Amino acid sequence: MGSTDAPQGPKVFSRRDALKLGGLGVMAAGALTLVGCSTSDTTGGSAGGASSTTAATTPPAPSSGGLLLPTPIELRSTDGVLDVAFVAAPAMVPWQDGTRYALTYNGISPGPTLRARPGDVINVTLRNELDEPTNLHTHGLHVSPEGISDNVFIMIEPGQEFSYRYEIPSDHPSGTFWYHPHHHGNTAQQLFGGMAGAIIIDDEIDDSGAMVNSSERMLILADPNIGDSPAVVDATMPERMQGRQGDAVLVNGVQSPTIAATTGTTERWRIVNTSPSRFYNLTIDGLTMVLVGTDQGRLRQPEPVDQIVLTPGQRAEVMVALTDPGTFTLVTTEVDRGSMSGGTLVPPAGTVTALLSVEVTGTSGAQAPPPPSQLDGPDERADLSVDSTRSMSLGGSGMGMRSLVIDGQSFDMDVVNITTTLGTTERWTITNPSMMDHPFHIHVWPFKVVERSDGAPLDPGWRDTVNVPAGGSVSIVMPFEDISGRTVYHCHILDHEDIGMMGVIEVV
Ligand code: C2O
Ligand code: CU
Ligand code: CU
Repeated sequence: MGSTDAPQGPKVFSRRDALKLGGLGVMAAGALTLVGCSTSDTTGGSAGGASSTTAATTPPAPSSGGLLLPTPIELRSTDGVLDVAFVAAPAMVPWQDGTRYALTYNGISPGPTLRARPGDVINVTLRNELDEPTNLHTHGLHVSPEGISDNVFIMIEPGQEFSYRYEIPSDHPSGTFWYHPHHHGNTAQQLFGGMAGAIIIDDEIDDSGAMVNSSERMLILADPNIGDSPAVVDATMPERMQGRQGDAVLVNGVQSPTIAATTGTTERWRIVNTSPSRFYNLTIDGLTMVLVGTDQGRLRQPEPVDQIVLTPGQRAEVMVALTDPGTFTLVTTEVDRGSMSGGTLVPPAGTVTALLSVEVTGTSGAQAPPPPSQLDGPDERADLSVDSTRSMSLGGSGMGMRSLVIDGQSFDMDVVNITTTLGTTERWTITNPSMMDHPFHIHVWPFKVVERSDGAPLDPGWRDTVNVPAGGSVSIVMPFEDISGRTVYHCHILDHEDIGMMGVIEVV
């Protein structure tokens, strides 16, 4: 039970810890150039070339006087290899006119974007300068969960270093993935502190047609607690039961930034929810978002959408054609995701928060490159033949910590909860008898959503995370293809995962 007990006192990384590490944020580590963010306003699409970092540019300030959307520094593979040196450490990061305390990779939050191609190898050396264990997970990548690959059972102690090697299969889907710590017991705390970054796998289609003729941007959503404490204070047990939410909502580390654009251009946004618990319900008045990709990459049939709900862990790729001038605001409307305790720890459902404004200048009625209507996405395989079925229950109907379990069991890294056979396809029916939503996530093997008890439209595309609503159930079909090994499935409200809402699966 050790790691599920309430902490003795608040777990705090102090500002002094950061100062002790003095200079870390500007120290070059291996292949990395450690600069904060480049503020890039002139992305011309994803160039296919292999340069290692993007240059920082200084575009004009938006007329509203707000901050321009910064672009996280990007590290790109060269000749099939991307070598990355990460230092996990507290740091002071830019905040309004000064700085704020955060937990970081290489002194920045979000961390660098890693960009590679199918067939590439990504090597990450991670040094732990935190005062507690950490490790690294590549969320959504279809790579081995064993050995020195995406192995969440690895534990890197303070002061230690570990070298990961991720071999991206040559048929890996192109899409938006991400990395974050996954050390059971402190995952939520470290992510909440700011440790997350994007991974992009792109291919020839990203270098052609409407995709390349668009302004590609990362929108990394996070909700740290800014407060006025020079530390990342651990959540209380009631906050962990609910799933902690921060007091600010940031895009690429900035509150309510601006994109300055002109009519006749098309935006392409890769949106990642890196919050440990907050759901986003995204809408933008006056512009049409076309959903071109989900968790596991491109959709065959891109579709215009009015809103996009992203649970923790989920991603969406949208394209937006800008034909008329104006200021358009991307907002999130607080989702009612239920409550374990009847408490009111989250802003009330319906609270609207501005995330980003798009300031469009130029002539009216301009022709913008239209988002594609057809894409060569991964095979949607409407009729996957199922070899066996399984059912699973997320959370119990009671209150308290015992309700944060899967099939009545709390996580035990030495217990394999599910064993299955490589090369088979399973249909899982996941029910949620509890009083709050639980977003279900499994590592390594993507799935399709095939049935929902709530009658909502089936989540399009291939997925690695799906919301199972309170009192409802969702059925997924999952081929255990190509890769064997032992890994985990869990609720992606990471406080729930840390409390024990996680199981072990082994594919043999
Ligand atoms: Cu993003 Cu096991 O999670
Ligand atoms: Cu994951
Ligand atoms: Cu949960």
